[in-house]
Amino acid sequence: MNSRELRNLYIDFFVGHDHKHIPSSSLIPENDPSVLFTTAGMHPLVPYLLGEKHPLGKRLVNFQKSLRTGDIDEVGDASHLTFFEMMGNWSLGDYFKRESIAMSHEFLTSALGIPQEKISVTVFSGDESAPRDEESAGIWRSLGYPDSRIYYYGKKENWWGPAGLTGPCGPDTEIFFDTGKEKCSADCGPSCTCGKHVEIWNNVFMEYVKDADGNYSKMPVSNVDTGLGLERVLAIMNGVPSVFDTELFMPIIEKIEAVTGVKYSEKTFRQYRVIADHLRAATFVLGDDKAVSPSNVDQGYVVRRLIRRAYRYLTQMNAPALTMSAIAEVIINNYSDVYPELGRNSEFVIRQFNQEEEIFSRTLEQGLKIATKYLDKVGPDKKMNAEDAFRLYDTFGFPLEFTQELAEENGIVVDVAGFRELFAAHQEKSRAGAAQKFKGGLADSSEETTKLHTATHLLHAALRKVLGESVNQRGSNINAERLRFDFSFDRKVTPEELAEAEKIVNSAISAGVDVVCEEMTVKEAKAKDAIGLFADKYDEVVKVYTMGGHSIEICGGPHVSNTRELGSFKIRQEGSSSAGVRRIKATVGG
Ligand code: ALA
Repeated sequence: MNSRELRNLYIDFFVGHDHKHIPSSSLIPENDPSVLFTTAGMHPLVPYLLGEKHPLGKRLVNFQKSLRTGDIDEVGDASHLTFFEMMGNWSLGDYFKRESIAMSHEFLTSALGIPQEKISVTVFSGDESAPRDEESAGIWRSLGYPDSRIYYYGKKENWWGPAGLTGPCGPDTEIFFDTGKEKCSADCGPSCTCGKHVEIWNNVFMEYVKDADGNYSKMPVSNVDTGLGLERVLAIMNGVPSVFDTELFMPIIEKIEAVTGVKYSEKTFRQYRVIADHLRAATFVLGDDKAVSPSNVDQGYVVRRLIRRAYRYLTQMNAPALTMSAIAEVIINNYSDVYPELGRNSEFVIRQFNQEEEIFSRTLEQGLKIATKYLDKVGPDKKMNAEDAFRLYDTFGFPLEFTQELAEENGIVVDVAGFRELFAAHQEKSRAGAAQKFKGGLADSSEETTKLHTATHLLHAALRKVLGESVNQRGSNINAERLRFDFSFDRKVTPEELAEAEKIVNSAISAGVDVVCEEMTVKEAKAKDAIGLFADKYDEVVKVYTMGGHSIEICGGPHVSNTRELGSFKIRQEGSSSAGVRRIKATVGG
């Protein structure tokens, strides 16, 4: 069975049980600053799990791109991944435990034909927030599961959510596949990490909501949220020993073998798996329509860490330059029929990999030398101090776990808590720096002035398109009524040219593109052809605002979140400001 067949089987099964198929959402969550990535299929459905009516009804099904960094240290074993696809089905106040468990059982044993005796399940043992889940246990029993394969666990194992800090959550029943390995000890069960039991499906009975104070209360509706791991099930269906031996990873592994000449073997499999996992995850983030690129904060920083770790392993295998983007191409080819955004954004993805490689390859070698020095001077406590780890980050771009890995190879631990403090203080400073830069031009940040500020970026980009790259910002002034934009240009702008620029801005507005903000160094911004002032120090962190392919500019913000919010754009006046500088006044509205 291949992955396409598996996805289809799942969707068809639940559509056959009256579910509506909804598309996979972006990996970058909407409107939830408490999590960086979509970690589960339920994430985009939170408003509906909280009671809002879903336009497609009460039964939904999909497969969802998901990314979790919590398991990153486990990547390399048979089943753990950062990026994965989660197949899920939902009941929004419709069916509950009985139907949910019965459908899962039927899908696994009938549709997929997994022998029932290979399946063990777990249920919630109860605590002060919710009672012992005898109901689920009874349902499993009624379906023929013996007590010896029904396990009770507490909150750590059998409670799921919320996805962020607050939101819907509840007790769950989890389904495990027995790989047939020997028990590692007498009490080896599903919660054991030895690899005998692999969790494949989680059915969450979402009846609770957690608030900001950490209290759980019962919701008016009882929902079901499930998640079935596509890669794990695919490995089971094909009788292969790990997710990396499926068709989703083998082409990546073969490509690494081809370019490095190093065999995928007992000795190298861990590096191989980390490279394959991390580059696949990075490709999906970079290839998302929300266009995150490597940077030093938030999602961009996670991608950077994934790429840099993979890059180091590739370097150890003597991979030639630009291997990462060559692997990304394999990943894009493998997936773009299912996730067309990867194909759409492939040029961007390739460019980002190559740029990140170029930036990091310049400092990696020197950084490794300095790291060796720091490691050599570590005292008998075998602890690297936070300042040294931070210097490796700040000067050579070594992410923390990268340094930790180097240290571990030498039996040394890093002062992680100390590093985090220095890191947090540094990020605060970068943000303050970026906000400071924003002072020019904008009197306040009301809704109107924010719109006009975004319009200024679009106008700047449009003028460069119509009049050429000699156009550069010379001044900007915004009040609640209009924007005023001064730029270098040495003759009057014709009415036709003004009309053309206005048209370009309006088409960017009607395209409704998201305004994406990222932080990066001036050097990186320049590499991306961002416009803006480059007088700053090269390694200084700045904010870069990207509006699809329409505009990319260094700026402190704030901006609207989607160009559509501007409504329309009109140039009101054009004239001379001073020698070689023209001035445009323009408005946005309705
Ligand atoms: N949201 C549940 C999970 O991620 C299904 O396990």
